[in-house]
Amino acid sequence: MKTNDFVSLAKKAREYAYVPYSKFPVGAALVTKEDEVVLGCNIENASFGLSNCAERTAIFKAVSEGKTDFKKLVVVADTDGPVSPCGACRQVISEFCNLDMPVVLTNLKGEQVEVTVKELLPGAFKAEDMVE
Ligand code: THU
Repeated sequence: MKTNDFVSLAKKAREYAYVPYSKFPVGAALVTKEDEVVLGCNIENASFGLSNCAERTAIFKAVSEGKTDFKKLVVVADTDGPVSPCGACRQVISEFCNLDMPVVLTNLKGEQVEVTVKELLPGAFKAEDMVE
């Protein structure tokens, strides 16, 4: 499968977004090194702070299924330019994905940019930072 196939899958996941408050659906497709695709959408809550972004849904689903080796993440939303992941997601992506892993950010107009995890969050707080 190519990047555009993963974009199509992320768009499909976006259709399942539960967004009664923001009305802003987001879809994500996380690709494992074994070429499995784990999809995610944003899931909101009446207690707004409990809402979960599409990227974190995909990562948490994957990890909870024992999938922890990833090679690509694709995110799509109806934004002006390519969608920009929030800070919380950038930190969670940095926890589970290799710093050189590509992240494809896109929108419904097909505008697309590919960045690395490291570029998304330079200086991410890591487990190593807690070593004395
Ligand atoms: N959101 C995502 O799911 N991913 C992003 O990259 C940006 C923001 C969600 C969170 C919330 O449900 C809605 O979009 C508006 O912030």
